[in-house]
Amino acid sequence: MTRLDHDANIRPWVQAAEAVGATVRWLGFDPATSELDDLAPLLTERTRLVAVTGASNLLGTRPELPALASLVHDAGALVYVDGVHLTPHAPVDAGFADFYVCSPYKFFGPHCGVLSASPALLDGLRPDKLLPATDVVPERFEFGTLPYELLAGTTAAVDFLAGLGGAGEGRRERLLSSLALLETYEDDLGAELETRLAAIDGITLHGHAQRRTSTLLFSVAGWEPRAVAAKLAESGVNAPAGSFYALEASRHLGLGDTGAIRVGLAPYTNQSDVDRLVESIETLED
Ligand SMILES: Cc1ncc(COP(=O)(O)O)c(C=O)c1O
Repeated sequence: MTRLDHDANIRPWVQAAEAVGATVRWLGFDPATSELDDLAPLLTERTRLVAVTGASNLLGTRPELPALASLVHDAGALVYVDGVHLTPHAPVDAGFADFYVCSPYKFFGPHCGVLSASPALLDGLRPDKLLPATDVVPERFEFGTLPYELLAGTTAAVDFLAGLGGAGEGRRERLLSSLALLETYEDDLGAELETRLAAIDGITLHGHAQRRTSTLLFSVAGWEPRAVAAKLAESGVNAPAGSFYALEASRHLGLGDTGAIRVGLAPYTNQSDVDRLVESIETLED
């Protein structure tokens, strides 16, 4: 478990561990750099699974997953990666993860969950299920009749992303190429936004990791985060305040349960959005 994660990749494991009497070990992160601490000292021959985020939805931090996964595998344990925040922002080859999950609604699709794992691994897991429901993998993990409209919507979302400028023969190539373009686009615009925000008096930026998504968390001196969010909304900027369910991370940063203001970029965010946000924040300071 890491303190960088969304509670969705923390609490279910804590509760599962309680249910079977397993020990939970916490991997912290450095509030100054937003980088995960060293995992190696936490691993023992009794470690079964390491749950880690692909990217923090609060700070954007992108842990070095392949290196982390190889440490975990050397210890004989499995890696479960929460890719909900990472997947919309970068091309991902999740081959290093035993389990990789993401949420299509984060990339223009419908509300359903996606889990990728090898059939052999899934075969060894026995979810609670109705007796007549099929036991074959992967349908064993579904609830009765499949949600066909959600599956169709997810396919359409992937097609849409693959069509956003991506080049290549097949859909996979076009998708990876589109996402690489989007990553560069968001990184460049995000870097400009960060530089401009950092130059404003009274702004504290909280995310400092070397590798991260274009997700920025900041506080404004003398302002409650929610008051800032309300002011920004008046200027047509949707930048909510809170911990965004990354409660452990928010507490670890000293921001308690209140959190701070988060802005994130998406494929549809453009220069005028960034200008409007920066100008609205500058007006706050007047
Ligand atoms: C990193 C991360 N993990 C998990 C979740 C929860 O995903 P869902 O809303 O699909 O349950 C979110 C949602 O914001 C997230 O950002």
